[in-house]
Amino acid sequence: MIDQTHQSTTMQAITMKRAGSADRLTLSEVPTPVPDPGDLLVRIHAATVTRGDVVMRKMPKLVARLFGERPRTIPGYEYAGVVESLGSRAEGYTVGDRVFGTTSGLRQGSYAEYIAVPANGMVVSIPEGVGFGEAAPVPVGAMAAFDFLCLGGAGERSRVLINGASGSVGTFAVQIAKHLGSHVTGVAGSSNVELVAALGADDVIDYTKDDPVNSGRIFDVIFDAVGKTSEKQMNHLLAEGGRFVTTKARRRETRKSLLAVRDLLASGAITPVVDRTYALAEVTEAHRHVEQGHKRGNILIRIDG
Ligand SMILES: NC(=O)c1ccc[n+]([C@@H]2O[C@H](COP(=O)([O-])OP(=O)(O)OC[C@H]3O[C@@H](n4cnc5c(N)ncnc54)[C@H](OP(=O)(O)O)[C@@H]3O)[C@@H](O)[C@H]2O)c1
Repeated sequence: MIDQTHQSTTMQAITMKRAGSADRLTLSEVPTPVPDPGDLLVRIHAATVTRGDVVMRKMPKLVARLFGERPRTIPGYEYAGVVESLGSRAEGYTVGDRVFGTTSGLRQGSYAEYIAVPANGMVVSIPEGVGFGEAAPVPVGAMAAFDFLCLGGAGERSRVLINGASGSVGTFAVQIAKHLGSHVTGVAGSSNVELVAALGADDVIDYTKDDPVNSGRIFDVIFDAVGKTSEKQMNHLLAEGGRFVTTKARRRETRKSLLAVRDLLASGAITPVVDRTYALAEVTEAHRHVEQGHKRGNILIRIDG
């Protein structure tokens, strides 16, 4: 049964008609989405501003299409909220369930009060005891960290170097690599050395004082979580059979990875680092902060007032 309550009403959302600067992000009143038969209508409580959101904001629609992205008026990749209603064929959830996920491939992003998402897509339930603000920042950063660490072969007793250990991907990567039993060396700036150590890194290199390229150490996995180095630059630090992986590479999100990071969140193996929290109406400021390239962990958008 489709609940008709919200179909004829409007909602607040951030819209952007053309690619460009953060000033183009506008608080607007738009129609509340109508869920398709296989969809959940989710009342969003928290979203985030990721690096990817900034990249997409600047990307002309034509270029976005060339990269296989779906240009859309309402941006935003991550959300956490509550199932408000279900389409007639949506299965696995009931009204009131708390869920989180990504909006990849959907016609609408997460900077909005409501979103319709396919029940069998990139959405999963929020573990008990985890808040909306803790769940929303997990999918993009933690999934990327999990996928790239797995690709690199990180595991028990691997020596893992994480460059950019204080960003969203990096802070999750430190926690996940430690959870996998690896020996972790994080690379961060002076102001983030303590944070990275507190996340569990065994060693931290302050990149403002020591260039990790000249560290002279050997690693089984080098994960550039911030995409500032290349395999060519780092190759000499790799053990025989070691692997260099970078967030510059493209990857495909999978539900399997989303369920894996949900389990890590449920067990307490990962906890998101939240740098700043903004209201929906402050998304422009949030974008300006993120595009400076110095955020610590994640940027949260509260949509529940
Ligand atoms: N391929 C994928 O599937 C995928 C998925 C997610 C993200 N990404 C990409 O991954 C990258 C990282 O995303 P993110 O959200 O984690 O980034 P972010 O949070 O914006 O990273 C910022 C952090 O990086 C640190 N940093 C900046 N320059 C550094 C350097 N030269 N060495 C070491 N640390 C440095 C900054 O610390 P300081 O302030 O100390 O400089 C800051 O804490 C982005 O390019 C994003 O687009 C790719």
